[in-house]
Amino acid sequence: MRGSSVLLPALLAAPFATANRPAVRPLNEQVALVTGASSGIGLQAAKYLAAQGTAVVLAARRTDRLNAAVTEITEAGGRAVVASCDVRRGDMLKAAVTLAEEIFGGLDFVFANAGSFSMGEDELEAAEDEQLAMNVAVNLIGSGLLTLKYALPALKRRGGGAVVFTSSIAAYFNKVTGAAYEQMTAINAASKAGLDSIANVGAGAFARHGIRLYSLNLALYESEMSLGTLGERGSLNQFAAMINPYHKEKAGHPREIAKVIAHIADNSTLWPSGSLVTVDGDSTISSEVFHRARFQPGLPELLGMPSPAELKEHLRDHRGGPYLQVKDEV
Ligand SMILES: *[C@@H]1O[C@H](CO)[C@@H](O)[C@H](O)[C@H]1NC(C)=O
Repeated sequence: MRGSSVLLPALLAAPFATANRPAVRPLNEQVALVTGASSGIGLQAAKYLAAQGTAVVLAARRTDRLNAAVTEITEAGGRAVVASCDVRRGDMLKAAVTLAEEIFGGLDFVFANAGSFSMGEDELEAAEDEQLAMNVAVNLIGSGLLTLKYALPALKRRGGGAVVFTSSIAAYFNKVTGAAYEQMTAINAASKAGLDSIANVGAGAFARHGIRLYSLNLALYESEMSLGTLGERGSLNQFAAMINPYHKEKAGHPREIAKVIAHIADNSTLWPSGSLVTVDGDSTISSEVFHRARFQPGLPELLGMPSPAELKEHLRDHRGGPYLQVKDEV
C-alpha cells in the first residue's frame, strides 16, 4: 500500500513518545479545574477531589457560592480557589486555566460540568429561540469545544492529563423516547451527543500528548438542576423510575459520580480513554450498549433503552471493574 511507508515511521515512533511521558500523578499531586462547581454534581466532585489532596479551581458564574465552598474546603485542610467563569466566554476559561497554573503550578484534570437544561426546551414550538441557542452555547460550545480548547495548552505543558465531560443519557435518546414523551427530546440530546463525539474523537487526536478524554452519560442524579427542574425529591425519584436505565428506585447521589471521576483523573480507571460511560446510581456501563440499541424498537416504558435485565450483565463499578452489589430487584 502506498500510504504504509508514511504511516510506518509514525507507528514505530509512538512507543518512544509514550516511554518519555511522565506517569500520571497521584491525586494529591494533581491540579483540577471544575466548571459548574457552584452546586450539585460539580460541587460534590470538587469537594471530593480536594479531600483526596487535589488542588482545585472551582469555576462557575455564581462566585458567592464558590467562595463558601472554597472556605469549607480550605478549613478542612484542602487547597482550592475560585474562578468566576461563564463557559460561553473563552477569555474567562483562559483566565481559570491561567489561575491553576499560576497558583498551583499546572493543570492535570478538567471536569467540564457546566450545563444548561430546562424541560421547556423539549417543547420545541414553545421554546424561546434564545433558550435553544443557549442550550447549545453552554452545553456544546462552552462545556465542550471552548473548555477543551483553553485547557489543551496547559495539559500539554504538563505532559498530559484528562478531561471529563458531563453528558447525559439524553445523548442516546431515540425515536422511541420521542414517541414515549410525545416531545422533541432531541434538543438537550443533541448538545450532549456532541460532547460524546468530542470526547471520542479527541481521545484519538490528543493521545500522543498523553491527554485522555471521557464523556459521562449521567442518569438522574440529585442536583440543583434536576431538583429545580423536577421539584421535590419524591418526584425526582418517581422520575428516576421512568428514565434511569438500571437503578429505577431512586436518583443517584453525586458522590457516585465523583468517585468515577477520581479514578479517571489518576488513571486507575479500567475504562480506556475515549470511553462514553453511563453512570447510573453506583454503577457504570459502556454507553455503546445504548448506542447499539439506538435504532432497535424498544418498549415505550423503557424509552428505547435496553431493559434492566439486559443491562445487568453490562454493569461495572466506579472504576470499571466487576460490579459486585448487583441488586436483584429493580
Ligand atoms: C492509563 O492506564 C492505561 C492502563 O489502564 C495505560 O494503558 C495508559 O498508558 C495509561 N495512560 C497514561 C497516560 O499513563
